[in-house]
Amino acid sequence: MNYIKKGQDHIWLPYTQMQSHLKQLNVKKTRGSKIYLSNNQILIDGISSWWSIAHGYNHPYIKKSIKSQLNKLPHIMLAGFANEQTYKLAYRLCQFSNMDKCFFSDSGSTAIEVAMKMSWQFYLNHNIKTKTKFISFKNSYHGDTSGAMSLADLSTGMHFKFNKLLLQNYSLNLPTNQNDLNKFEEFVKNNHNNIAGLFIEPMVQCAGGMKFHNVKILEQIYLIVKKYNILFICDECAVGFYRTGKKFAYMHSKIIEPDILTIGKALTGGIMTLAATMTNNNIYNAFLGDDLDLALMHGPTFMGNPLACSAANASLDLFERNNYKKSSIRNHKILMDSLKKFKKYKDITDIRAIGNIGVIEFKKDWSQILKMREQVINYNVFLRPLSNCLYIMPPLNINIKDLEKIIDACDQLLTSTI
Ligand SMILES: Cc1ncc(COP(=O)(O)O)c(C=O)c1O
Repeated sequence: MNYIKKGQDHIWLPYTQMQSHLKQLNVKKTRGSKIYLSNNQILIDGISSWWSIAHGYNHPYIKKSIKSQLNKLPHIMLAGFANEQTYKLAYRLCQFSNMDKCFFSDSGSTAIEVAMKMSWQFYLNHNIKTKTKFISFKNSYHGDTSGAMSLADLSTGMHFKFNKLLLQNYSLNLPTNQNDLNKFEEFVKNNHNNIAGLFIEPMVQCAGGMKFHNVKILEQIYLIVKKYNILFICDECAVGFYRTGKKFAYMHSKIIEPDILTIGKALTGGIMTLAATMTNNNIYNAFLGDDLDLALMHGPTFMGNPLACSAANASLDLFERNNYKKSSIRNHKILMDSLKKFKKYKDITDIRAIGNIGVIEFKKDWSQILKMREQVINYNVFLRPLSNCLYIMPPLNINIKDLEKIIDACDQLLTSTI
């Protein structure tokens, strides 16, 4: 039975106009940085399956850990039962991220929902009832669930049609200079009484167009919100785990201490779905007391699933063992040096790189993006340009030869489409 063919009439795909979508690539297997298609074509993955595959596909060490866990304890609910993998991961993640507490969930979007509830209730538990809104930035993306969508730019972004369904938060321009920062501070000063937290993707707004900001701006935003008693929430679902060269992107700063840190995607090395909302004792302690009403009422069925945690524990071993700091510097240099030459193409408006992320930005043209998506596999590489850019975000441990092949493919793609 050809189930790909059978399933075609039944499956509903992500972010897709089902009436006219591109043909899906039929995958046979994956290994390292490579995707093997059923027609025997082999693609190098330039975007690591939506930025999740950190150590390459099918990493034998992670597989071994999952297999062993599968035989012992694939799942047990977290209410009422402790298990070694989940508790070990909570402990290790706190050490790894400099946070104190870890609340597990099952996707980045859910980690954001938890962060919103946590911040909101933190103030409620302190008997502050007015702090019910959040600040986020234009071009940011924090997920597709209702709370997460309410942090998107609802005037233009893909979620704008849900505007009336969602919480009304503040979507501000991300400051780029002192003048902007002054305006930002003015806004915060005037509204802080009803703001619980500020969400930011530190250093890089990913899905919103791979837009970078510098660490000084990040620090100024941090200092302003701390001055006005607003929680600083780093959404590192995409940029965490060495993506920008540092363990976490907020660590480009020496002064920032997030109140909440959300992580997902690469947490398990990209093999299984797992996310976490990390926080500090200050937040956590506000939930303690004799009354259940003070507690955080949240608990996804598969919260802290032991199988996913076993993948994450193995992935953490690899993050600790591999020198991703060093390879990020190497990858960054390769990206920066080679992407520069693409300035020769007309309509290129910017070339930039940070850590393991390289971006070629051009004048927005959606039909061009679609053309690129369609043509890229002609060069035996998988890329998925978005917004107004072609970007590279490969597995962290990609070898130099494969990285260079991706860059060559970008060159050929730009020659044929721009
Ligand atoms: C910064 C950021 N936050 C949250 C999410 C949502 O994660 P998930 O797709 O696992 O729900 C994403 C997904 O791309 C993301 O980039």
